[in-house]
Amino acid sequence: MCGQKTEAKKETKETKAEPQYIRIPKGCVNVIVDTTKISYVDPKGQITIIRGYRIDDLGKHASFEEAAYLVLFGRLPCEDELKEFSKKLNSERWLPVKVIDALKQIPPFAHPMFYGSYGLLLLGMYDPDEGDLSIDKLYDRAIRIIAKLPLLFINGWHLSRYGRLIEPDRSLNHAKDVLRMIRGGNMPTDTEARAFESSLVLYMDHGFNASTFTTRVIASTLSDMYSAIAGAIGALKGPLHGGANQKAIEMLLEIGSPENVRWYVEEKLKRHEKIMGFGHRVYKLHDPRTDVLREWLEKLAETSGEAKKFLDMINELEKTMWELKRIPSNIDLYTGALYYLLKIPKEFYTPIFAIGRVVGWTAHYIEQVSNNKIIRPKEDYDGPRGLTYKPLEERCKR
Ligand code: SDX
Repeated sequence: MCGQKTEAKKETKETKAEPQYIRIPKGCVNVIVDTTKISYVDPKGQITIIRGYRIDDLGKHASFEEAAYLVLFGRLPCEDELKEFSKKLNSERWLPVKVIDALKQIPPFAHPMFYGSYGLLLLGMYDPDEGDLSIDKLYDRAIRIIAKLPLLFINGWHLSRYGRLIEPDRSLNHAKDVLRMIRGGNMPTDTEARAFESSLVLYMDHGFNASTFTTRVIASTLSDMYSAIAGAIGALKGPLHGGANQKAIEMLLEIGSPENVRWYVEEKLKRHEKIMGFGHRVYKLHDPRTDVLREWLEKLAETSGEAKKFLDMINELEKTMWELKRIPSNIDLYTGALYYLLKIPKEFYTPIFAIGRVVGWTAHYIEQVSNNKIIRPKEDYDGPRGLTYKPLEERCKR
């Protein structure tokens, strides 16, 4: 497999021209393409690991800053390191005026995920060191992108739809201020802010998922970090990946009540349509991230009838999907419900996934360029052969 050294065979002209190829299943199903020290996704869904810690343990206890430090540097920070890192992240939570002016050109109907890629490429244009891959510059750039990406989504949204520039409040920590700005300045309660922060930690990294692998492919050409993260956002936008949390809440609102669940699922399955927020390439039994989010929904359900209804619908959906398809739910079913209860516009749900996952993407970028081999698989061509060029007048004769 790529990443493993195959013993060097005696090389002849033939073997140089036609090495031994390994065919892998479409979509790289069950294929290991490289090693990483950042995270491991356990198919049994019991011990998914981020730098040695269980993802649900971090989701329950770590702040965004602590978890981001861990994902980037490989260990949880001591007090002075955490203070220094938080201060640096906080100090980068602003946008250059030229970038804000460019965000003002965004059409009001644009999909919000475009704001992230567009804004990142603008930041790259204004970074004279964008091509400098020295390790200190890489970490500085990662912190800059982690801090500024939320503002690109937030101001892309509020400027293009309401003509409002939302300014950061740097007296708040990252997650609380991001939630406040997403809601147009409406200050979250501590419980709302902690639930939101917990979801960002749970989204932070997750093995070689499609958007992370996209990051690594772009990093492997030694392209810059802005381009790599812009590409990752493009991958995450798809409804089979990050786009699922918005689709999941739209589904819950469409179903309306637990009583309608079975009929809804059966109708969808009859039409061979996917149930959003269910299924996973690796988790075939359970997505451990849902355990932490379930606790948040249960806490909100103590005071919110809507949260209780969402929980009842989720329970019914999980029961029905396991009975009919043996398919578990995934994180996006739960974040869709949580973000709705946090009064976040549903177009923001996938951008929020990016706001969490950008930490993992930048860490994977740094890991790839630090021990790199360009990622270039071989194709199996099964198109026509042996054709020769014919001038226009000889082609397409009736
Ligand atoms: C994320 O990779 C990651 O780690 C991703 C992620 C992360 O943190 O980065 O965990 C985040 O992307 C979670 C997944 C969010 N997407 C959705 O909820 C969209 C719905 N899910 C599916 O599209 C699907 O389950 C995928 C894309 C997630 C996984 O697809 P696979 O592994 O390629 O599996 P498949 O599509 O080949 O499905 C296998 C079978 C098929 O049935 P058959 O054709 O063999 O009869 O299971 C069925 C599928 O039809 N199936 C579903 C289903 N998911 C799979 N049937 C109904 N509803 C579903 N959701």
